[in-house]
Amino acid sequence: MRVSLSRMSLLAVCLPVVAAIAACSQPPAPAPAPKSETPVQSPVERGKYLVTTGLCNDCHTPKKMGPNGPEPDMDLELSGHPEGMVVKAAYTPAKNSPWIVAGLGSLTAWSGPWGVSFTANLTPDPNTGLRSGVWTEELFIKALRTGKHMGTGRDILPPMPWPFIGQYSDADLKAIWAYLGTIKPIKNHVPDPIPPVTSR
Ligand code: HEC
Repeated sequence: MRVSLSRMSLLAVCLPVVAAIAACSQPPAPAPAPKSETPVQSPVERGKYLVTTGLCNDCHTPKKMGPNGPEPDMDLELSGHPEGMVVKAAYTPAKNSPWIVAGLGSLTAWSGPWGVSFTANLTPDPNTGLRSGVWTEELFIKALRTGKHMGTGRDILPPMPWPFIGQYSDADLKAIWAYLGTIKPIKNHVPDPIPPVTSR
């Protein structure tokens, strides 16, 4: 018993050494595989890709009626809730209704327990959009990371999915900012949110 135990411990000591020697005597690793064929994207191209796949148009582009219902009207790309579609009050669900959220036909305004939210104008319009001089790239990133309006103000309201969008890397958020500076500027003054009905 004593012999076999000490043999085992000898083996335990020797085996890693043997493995290390074996590793040292391996032939050199083969040359790395050639890099993928994906072309290098500029920040604006990357931003366009992220905005398109990140669903920003779903909420920030007003809809027009298509054969299967509302579809983004790309002539109004990312211009936010149309100022002409005036909403005066939140939707009040019937008592005991399981439905708590309502969306306008443009899918740019939502009513829910948070009141009514209107999607922002993300175009570079110098008066009403993201290049109005009030926003900067830094504030844009801060808002999406913190969920605070312009990075410091009130909470950003649902259904803006900032907890997810805010997880893009700095480079990706900068790319989104860069792309948003290149789209067609559209003058559209989005209204402020309407506070919730307190008696609900
Ligand atoms: C599900 C709907 C939805 C999607 C998808 C969405 N947004 Fe929004 N977004 C909103 C709403 C609603 C608001 C207004 C929120 C408010 O007033 O508090 C908003 C506001 C914003 C604001 C202004 C934030 C602030 O500080 O007031 C920015 C910037 C923004 N969105 C960028 C984006 C970008 C970029 C994408 C895509 C990557 C995107 N959003 C996708 C609904 C959405």
